[in-house]
Amino acid sequence: VPPVIGIVGGGQLARMLLAPAARLALPVVLLADPEDAAAPFCRDLIAGRPDADGLRRLAEACDVLTVEHELVDLDTLADLEREGHLVRPSSATLAIAVDKARQRRVLGDHGIPLAPWLVTDAADRVEAFADEHGWPLVLKPPRGGYDGRGVFVADDAAAARAVLAEVGGEVVVEPRLPIDVELSVLVARRPGGETAVYPAVETCQVDGMCREVLLPARVPPAVEQEAVGVALRVAEAIGSVGILAVELFVVGGEVLLNELAARPHNAGHVTIEGAVTSQFENHLRAVADLPLGDTTIRHPSVMVNIVGGDHDPLEHLPGALELRDVAVHLYGKAYRPGRKLGHVTATGDDLDDALRRAQGAATALVEGTPR
Ligand SMILES: Nc1ncnc2c1ncn2[C@@H]1O[C@H](COP(=O)(O)OP(=O)(O)O)[C@@H](O)[C@H]1O
Ligand SMILES: [Mg+2]
Repeated sequence: VPPVIGIVGGGQLARMLLAPAARLALPVVLLADPEDAAAPFCRDLIAGRPDADGLRRLAEACDVLTVEHELVDLDTLADLEREGHLVRPSSATLAIAVDKARQRRVLGDHGIPLAPWLVTDAADRVEAFADEHGWPLVLKPPRGGYDGRGVFVADDAAAARAVLAEVGGEVVVEPRLPIDVELSVLVARRPGGETAVYPAVETCQVDGMCREVLLPARVPPAVEQEAVGVALRVAEAIGSVGILAVELFVVGGEVLLNELAARPHNAGHVTIEGAVTSQFENHLRAVADLPLGDTTIRHPSVMVNIVGGDHDPLEHLPGALELRDVAVHLYGKAYRPGRKLGHVTATGDDLDDALRRAQGAATALVEGTPR
């Protein structure tokens, strides 16, 4: 009998986890706010927050805990592990995934390729780093960033001081890298260490937010192999269980680690239509310690995020559904400019054509103007 999976969080990732859970009849209980995107689709809902009280209530109601976001009380998760509860990924893995400074320390020691980096709260040390590597620099608080919030570019010493004052603590400092392309590699890993790795996807960020994802990435085979190899080494090094998303930069043909997410990831939404087994299904399979699904490409695919404008995308759904050959995913979230509300995926051998179709559908949903 498969274990009852307790999911911490009720956003779109939880919502997309519920679809394969339903198909495989895997029992799921959710710790979420009843207003969250996933809540209406899970009968076994624990209304609460990911704090000590909420996590304990979830632990009592499930056999294995997992997370759809990382803003979780990790001390309580560690306590629950000590008390014998299964937490996948573990609190130790999550502690690395939530902290960009720790990722660099731990993974640098494991020989994972990184850009030059420094962790400091001292302006003179930032300036010394700039003397060596040149301006501009990128400064990021180690925790709490997402969608590019928390990525600051400093052109000079005065700008760096302003960022340090605003952040009010340590930052990760890096050169602003001349990135050729950004990749993500998703690794599904079972508790015993068995892995299934997806082909690298290419991600396009706008203002630090992921906008488009292409499967497969348009990179030479050697770069693809290097990216997959780095991701597998990272998964092993941090003992991930479930999906680990490894964000990578390609700079001058070299693969460098950017950051990690120990959960399903925006870069993996394209696997719903594009791969034989989606990242969401493989996350559940891995967390439940069930055999992993095939990660090979079913169709070359492109995903485009639907980012909120002035209208509810639901208003424009009929128009978008007139467009052929695109799969529309809406998360049922209140629309707000700049918020991720859904995504569309187009498949086809010609990635440029698929990209145009997906962009057209995304525009139709946001603006109501089908091509
Ligand atoms: N050192 C850097 N040089 C150039 N661009 C960067 C650098 N660090 C981050 N970026 C850009 O900002 C995006 C978001 O940064 P990331 O560290 O992944 O933060 P987040 O947690 O917001 O995803 C990256 O995907 C990349 O496009
Ligand atoms: Mg990122």
